[in-house]
Amino acid sequence: PGSTTPLPQADLAVGGVPLTELAERFGTPTYVLDEDEVRRRCRAYLRAFPDADVLYAAKAFLCRAMAHWVQEEGLGLDVCSAGELELAVTTGYPPERIVLHGNAKSPDDLGTALRLGVGRIVIDSTSEIARLAAAVPAGSRQKVLIRVVPGIAAGGHAKIRTGTEDQKFGLSVADGSAQHAIARVLGQPRLELVGLHCHLGSQITTVKPYLSAVRRLVGLLARIHEQHGVTLPELDLGGGHGIAYLPGEPALDIACLGTKIRAELARGCAAAGLPVPRLAVEPGRAIAGPAGVALYRVLTVKRTGTHLFVAVDGGMSDNPRPALYGVRYAPRLVGRRSAVAPEAVTVVGRHCEAGDVLASDVRLPGDIRPGDLLAVPVAGAYHLSMASGYNLVGRPPVVAVADGQARLLVRRESFADIRERDIGL
Ligand code: LLP
Repeated sequence: PGSTTPLPQADLAVGGVPLTELAERFGTPTYVLDEDEVRRRCRAYLRAFPDADVLYAAKAFLCRAMAHWVQEEGLGLDVCSAGELELAVTTGYPPERIVLHGNAKSPDDLGTALRLGVGRIVIDSTSEIARLAAAVPAGSRQKVLIRVVPGIAAGGHAKIRTGTEDQKFGLSVADGSAQHAIARVLGQPRLELVGLHCHLGSQITTVKPYLSAVRRLVGLLARIHEQHGVTLPELDLGGGHGIAYLPGEPALDIACLGTKIRAELARGCAAAGLPVPRLAVEPGRAIAGPAGVALYRVLTVKRTGTHLFVAVDGGMSDNPRPALYGVRYAPRLVGRRSAVAPEAVTVVGRHCEAGDVLASDVRLPGDIRPGDLLAVPVAGAYHLSMASGYNLVGRPPVVAVADGQARLLVRRESFADIRERDIGL
């Protein structure tokens, strides 16, 4: 079972800087990242998983500073495109500490990975094997893992479940395609198979599915040993560690996860007569999510027969998660105290569709009005990394706060930026 984590006090200050000051200085909408919180979370992982590789899943959120922080803390990186890979490498991230994923890697993804000397490439399909082997320069070998579908259902939402059979990720053990791929990779002189990978899904709040995954993958390691006489030295269990978005919600207990996974792995390997492989985990959300706060300004307030709609200056273009997954957030009023009783409101965005809802049925003071500032805690993962250019409103900036100081990491996308890319007429 998960434990509850306190949510950051978004109504006061983040990193020692009042949110009202950040809104004044950087405008709204703005995303604020608490550098110390990111670093604390990295350290908690390293404590929970000693002797393992902790790889930050860049898809949750990546900018150059973020790459720099996680590298300084001693984490590796999980990327799934040439773009994520190249951005990280521009910060001096050692490529050998980076793992490339993807169910459909483009020639550019593979070419960039090989050119930069990425540490591991995770093979996700049979057709990728020959394509990758052909791209590896003569005389060198690329270390690879094979992504296996363990056949385990876990995760917060159907759209983010990846451990079950019959979906686009990985190679199934049940239908034999994983075994087939393993044999193929072992036959490729330019590929060095170093281990197995699986990723169950995302926003998982219990330890149990991870232990099932360990058992199944150790079983497969044992079969590989039997059939091919090969002992694979690495096991990557992916990410998916769930966090609390609302007060009182459960979060996955990372320390407990680490202890139990390591115990299960040791037990399973001993029973199978295998050496314990080096473990890797790939947390994204659990590192970036709670470290971020989104700041919005209220633009209009509209009372209908049944709803109080509070419209802010951002929306589904900077946070598509409520529209995509129906997930809930707990925005708070900041910068003023209201004596008026809270009532149920629907916080909506500024975009041209009715589904542009940021938070439904949240309690905010009944006198909420244009000009008020709203803060949405737990906004650090899968908001800006999934931001779109909808309605050409421009993407919000990212501001880092630490020790009472704020600094701009990524500037707001301006109309000039948008205009510059549009070169035809
Ligand atoms: N490793 C692999 C191979 C992954 O596919 C993912 C996430 C992770 C690690 C990191 O998972 P995390 O620890 O962040 O849960 N957009 C969705 C989440 C999609 C996750 C995709 N893969 C959302 O906003 O909930």
